[in-house]
Amino acid sequence: MFEIKNITMIYDMEKTEKVYALGGFDLSLPDKGLIGIIGPSGSGKSTLMYCLSTLKKPTDGKILYNGKEITRLKDSEREVLRRNEFGFVFQRHFLVPYMSALDNVTVAATKHEKETIDKAKELLKGFGLGEREISKRPSKLSGGQRQRTAIARAMINEPKVLFADEPTAALDHENAFAVMEILKEYAKENLVLVITHDRSILKDADSVIEMWDGDISTIKGGGSV
Ligand SMILES: Nc1ncnc2c1ncn2[C@@H]1O[C@H](COP(=O)(O)OP(=O)(O)OP(=O)(O)O)[C@@H](O)[C@H]1O
Ligand SMILES: [Mg+2]
Repeated sequence: MFEIKNITMIYDMEKTEKVYALGGFDLSLPDKGLIGIIGPSGSGKSTLMYCLSTLKKPTDGKILYNGKEITRLKDSEREVLRRNEFGFVFQRHFLVPYMSALDNVTVAATKHEKETIDKAKELLKGFGLGEREISKRPSKLSGGQRQRTAIARAMINEPKVLFADEPTAALDHENAFAVMEILKEYAKENLVLVITHDRSILKDADSVIEMWDGDISTIKGGGSV
């Protein structure tokens, strides 16, 4: 699904102190499966994810998504791609504070049909939120419930790729594992990329990419460098 060639990211190009966030490596990622990305702070994990998801443009190199070079797309084309194919989950939930959990999910839907509400309810209930919780605002939910709501929002349009940057970092172990169960299930039919500092939550990952200083140091499982 993703073919990455010589991906290079240099921050502060104009300054004398350049930061090589990605040092020019190749990587292939499959159509589906749970892929973990692990590595020390500053090793380039988020930068890699943001380049793949078109939120950032690499300084050099190519990223092919289903054969299409996304590094060459216009801003508007990138937006369409993100809206139709990609979903995002971050460390913080970024839910709208004055909307219910249910509205936070439905408002993200690209298709507004009667079924959208049913689907949002089904997702939230599947993630363990009851009838009472789905009508609560985020501030009235637990941290785990908020993050599961954010995941439901990311899944409402059935993205082919789900990008998750430290989705469990703000959660206790039990909630972190609950989130990973959800992502693992979604990864049966889609590609799910998960950045984490916690190796233990990647025990069921299909593949784990280890980053070190802007490069891939090892890769275990399905992907290939
Ligand atoms: N917007 C930016 N401007 C300048 N340098 C940046 C910027 N974003 C990241 N960097 C630098 O690029 C390198 C990689 O950063 P990145 O955020 O990708 O690391 P990370 O592996 O996600 O780290 P963390 O685990 O702390 O989130 C670091 O040296 C960082 O300081
Ligand atoms: Mg990061």
